[in-house]
Amino acid sequence: MNIAIAVDGPAGAGKSTISKAAAERLGFLYIDTGAMYRAAALYVVEHGKDAANEDDVKLLLPEIDIDLRDGKVYLCGDDVTGKIRTPEISVASSNIAVFPCVRNKLCALQREMAKRQSVIMDGRDVGTYVLPDAEVKVFLTTSAEVRAQRRLKELQEKGIESSYDEVLSDIQYRDKNDSTRKMAPLKKADDAVELDTGNLTIDESIEALISIYKEKTNA
Ligand code: DC
Repeated sequence: MNIAIAVDGPAGAGKSTISKAAAERLGFLYIDTGAMYRAAALYVVEHGKDAANEDDVKLLLPEIDIDLRDGKVYLCGDDVTGKIRTPEISVASSNIAVFPCVRNKLCALQREMAKRQSVIMDGRDVGTYVLPDAEVKVFLTTSAEVRAQRRLKELQEKGIESSYDEVLSDIQYRDKNDSTRKMAPLKKADDAVELDTGNLTIDESIEALISIYKEKTNA
């Protein structure tokens, strides 16, 4: 039987680092839904259009082909794994994610991926909307300040210029945008286990996620 683990939470809570490592340990496929919104936003920005303009986005949407393969993100066949992580694309992805036409397209793709094998899928609406029947649901949290520190470190390691204030204001903007949109907002599912990673190391957070999985599935 295929198992689905849904990991949701705000920007910078550690979802992708923790989910990717746990997926490797469990032999599950890791699906980063945020990367799909980022790739869609990149397409719109690279075509000189505004990701916050629904008409522009609607026109381009049929051309947008996204694939996640071997830990990489492909946009119309091109590897865009590195390009989607800039602060500009972070904000554009949060803007594009409010449009139902975008969410419907990406959500259908995500559900299709989860049918084929056991998955850990991370995002904002996985436990509430994409996979409401997921066997395991975890909601990661921690303060915006801690998340900004972590995100800044990640960007610096990738050689992307930014400042603490810029990253914190991006995170606060996205928290508000992601949790107040009408369709599938960022929200803890009623049956999700809340995990505050503020005082946990990455390894401890991975252990905690795996313990929740074992408890819920008697694995
Ligand atoms: O997880 P992330 O920071 O890479 O996500 C980028 C943006 O994509 C995020 O600000 C909101 C959007 N997103 C979404 O609306 N739903 C998801 N399931 C995942 C991401």
